[in-house]
Amino acid sequence: MSGISIIGTGSYLPEFIATNEMFTKFIETTDEWITTRTGISERRISPDKPNFIMGAEACKKALANAGIEGKDIDAIIVSTCSPDFFYPNTACLIQNIIGADGCAAIDINTACTGFITALDIARNYLAADIYKTILVVASERLTSQIDYEDRASCILFGDGAGAAVVQKGSGLYYSTMGAKGDMLRDLYCKVEYNRNNPFFKGDDILKDIINTPQKERYLQMDGKAVYKFAVDAMADAVDKVCAQSGFDINDLDLVIPHQANIRIIQSALKKMNVDESKVYTNLETHGNTSSSCIPMCLAELDEAGRLKRGMKICLVGFGAGLTYGACIFEY
Ligand code: UT7
Repeated sequence: MSGISIIGTGSYLPEFIATNEMFTKFIETTDEWITTRTGISERRISPDKPNFIMGAEACKKALANAGIEGKDIDAIIVSTCSPDFFYPNTACLIQNIIGADGCAAIDINTACTGFITALDIARNYLAADIYKTILVVASERLTSQIDYEDRASCILFGDGAGAAVVQKGSGLYYSTMGAKGDMLRDLYCKVEYNRNNPFFKGDDILKDIINTPQKERYLQMDGKAVYKFAVDAMADAVDKVCAQSGFDINDLDLVIPHQANIRIIQSALKKMNVDESKVYTNLETHGNTSSSCIPMCLAELDEAGRLKRGMKICLVGFGAGLTYGACIFEY
């Protein structure tokens, strides 16, 4: 099977900066606690732009960077777990803005693992010669799902979007994906059902969803459980994808992990036995932007001229589900 060629990247970062200090005004916390426990100093919050506008902004930059236009795109695959609408999906909303009329428009949701999943789907479309040029996007506005009275979670998340224009490439590509659905309660956010449907039977599970207290409509997380899962899942996924490719992790040029918590990244790196100099992070200034973290890192590295053709890059992540995934590709 063939690989991928990323011909353009772009990102959108909201202008508003929420510093750790700002959180001390409404929750019991300190800059020191947040910095030492998470590695995060500040994050961006979108006070005005909805998710799909942020996604479209990242796409416009990726298209310009690739030197192509919306009409040249055959499919848009969007990863998001924080959409503005149940339907239409975010890919349709973005398509309408960037002038990619008529192309396929698909949303996927594997939470924070989403960009890796979307890229994997894109790669398989490209390898099968179904589409020639695919816009792979992650756009997240998790701050609209956060409980700002929950000090363990509200300090973690930020908003943002990242995009990559992808075509078939001649380099290598390996991937692995997985999920532990039995850990669903460790990280979730429930939707709101209508309460006035007279036909609901209200069996136990449905009743539980319908009668969810308002507080539980926000992101719910068992931080410790997610932390422990993340370290093992990321290390295992990288081991697996390295074994498939025949590479040692230190043969790779660059590792971009999901930007959840610097301590999670450091513990996973230790398990993987990888040299820290190969790893890129931006969580200190961006916080956790869910599935947008990885394409935003890619766009920043690209802009800084740090991505070179032929580089072997590993992406690795985890998220609600709980899901996990990793891929290695030649840039
Ligand atoms: O994309 C995936 C999204 N989720 C994650 O990545 C979450 C992964 N988990 C984590 O990043 C960490 O578990 C947290 C950052 C959420 C928490 O860090 P921790 O080192 O696991 O802290 P903890 O839960 O063990 O809490 C230690 C103490 C507790 O107080 P007590 O019970 O010891 O008195 C917490 O109530 O720290 C307290 N605490 C805080 N203190 C000050 C929790 N949040 C805060 C806070 N400021 N913001």
